[in-house]
Amino acid sequence: MDSPHKPKPLSTHLFFLFLLLSTNLLTLFISSTFYSSCSLNHWPTAATTITAAIVAKSVLKDDTVVITDNSQITSDLPPEFIAFTSPQQLPFGFNTNFDSEKIIPPVGQPCTLFPNELRRYMSYKVNGSCPDDELLAQKLLLKGCEPLPRRRCRSASQQEYVEPYPLPASFWSTPSDSSVVWTAYTCKNYQCLINRMRTQKGFDDCKDCFDLEGVEKTRWAGPKIGGGVDFSIDEVLAVKKPGTIRIGLDIGGGVATFAVRMRERNITIITTSMNLNGPFNNFIASRGVIPLYISISQRLPFFDNTLDIVHSMHVLSNWIPTTLLHFLFFDIYRVLRPGGLFWLDHFFCVGEQLEEVYAPLINSIGFKKVKWVVGRKLDRGPELREMYLSALLEKPLKNSW
Ligand SMILES: *[C@@H]1O[C@H](CO)[C@@H](O)[C@H](O)[C@H]1NC(C)=O
Ligand SMILES: *[C@@H]1O[C@H](CO)[C@@H](O)[C@H](O)[C@H]1NC(C)=O
Repeated sequence: MDSPHKPKPLSTHLFFLFLLLSTNLLTLFISSTFYSSCSLNHWPTAATTITAAIVAKSVLKDDTVVITDNSQITSDLPPEFIAFTSPQQLPFGFNTNFDSEKIIPPVGQPCTLFPNELRRYMSYKVNGSCPDDELLAQKLLLKGCEPLPRRRCRSASQQEYVEPYPLPASFWSTPSDSSVVWTAYTCKNYQCLINRMRTQKGFDDCKDCFDLEGVEKTRWAGPKIGGGVDFSIDEVLAVKKPGTIRIGLDIGGGVATFAVRMRERNITIITTSMNLNGPFNNFIASRGVIPLYISISQRLPFFDNTLDIVHSMHVLSNWIPTTLLHFLFFDIYRVLRPGGLFWLDHFFCVGEQLEEVYAPLINSIGFKKVKWVVGRKLDRGPELREMYLSALLEKPLKNSW
């Protein structure tokens, strides 16, 4: 790391310290103490925080200035985090594309709000083995530290990796247990994941997903298995000219059965998934389709007007804060090409929420309604008045801007 802070006289340090105290540290103290009720606008950027850390450290080195507890948060930022996120000079100087002479590698802006987790995550030997800490990484990411910082270590992997089944057998085969590092999960093999629907009491995301002989076998296979809110893939594809739906995204796609079925129709789908108490990303990859490890908060990593279809089942629902959902719907609209389809599959909410909140929200984005089916969700009892909405929405071919 090239440090701009060569040894300076004490008076310079004191001046810096004064500047810091009057600008950053107070904000930092307030924010770090009350951040849960504090609007994001009040949180200083990661860059300011890091500058504060570096300066505070160089002051501390002289052993002449005592810094109070308030600086703890910043001076404790792990060195590898600072090494990764500090501005780095471009070797060939100013770059017109960047409009800058340096690169500042990005991490999620909230990363520094969680100094303890961040310190644990960034503590490793450079060029050594990373800690086996998938659970910590995912928690940090879900709290908003997304993207996570890069690390200069080798991530935990199997001692003896077993290569996947060849295509097309991989689509519908349970992969070898030796393709997964199991530390983060309650289950320690695939048979346990397959059985947990029957043996486990608690709720787990997509509990019956890993059983490829179970419900996965018939999902979206149609024609009209459940009717109503259960659209089939072929019925959806029939809305467009044959062959014009070629590439797309499935948000929160479980074990990617949607992508596999689409692949069987020569359509390429990328599936976003977290690893919530199961190795979803490994499983998806073993099947032979592409997993993308991003949360629902992350801006979709696709350019505007590019995808033919975006699908999401059971994920975009009333557990997501409404403002986040509003941004997310607009992001889906952005990445879809004009004429592209958004298949909102089994969106669920309660009673009047649909008419009062979600229908107006969805209507406001600018999609054309192709299908819109509302049904009762009865799996937890009718008294909960839960509702499903399945909708097929099209980004207008003309004037979608
Ligand atoms: C980095 O680690 C690899 C594998 O352990 C080792 O072969 C190599 O010598 C290390 N490089 C340095 C610069 O320490
Ligand atoms: C998928 O593409 C292959 C190779 O082009 C072709 O042989 C096959 O018929 C296609 N399958 C479908 C379902 O369109």
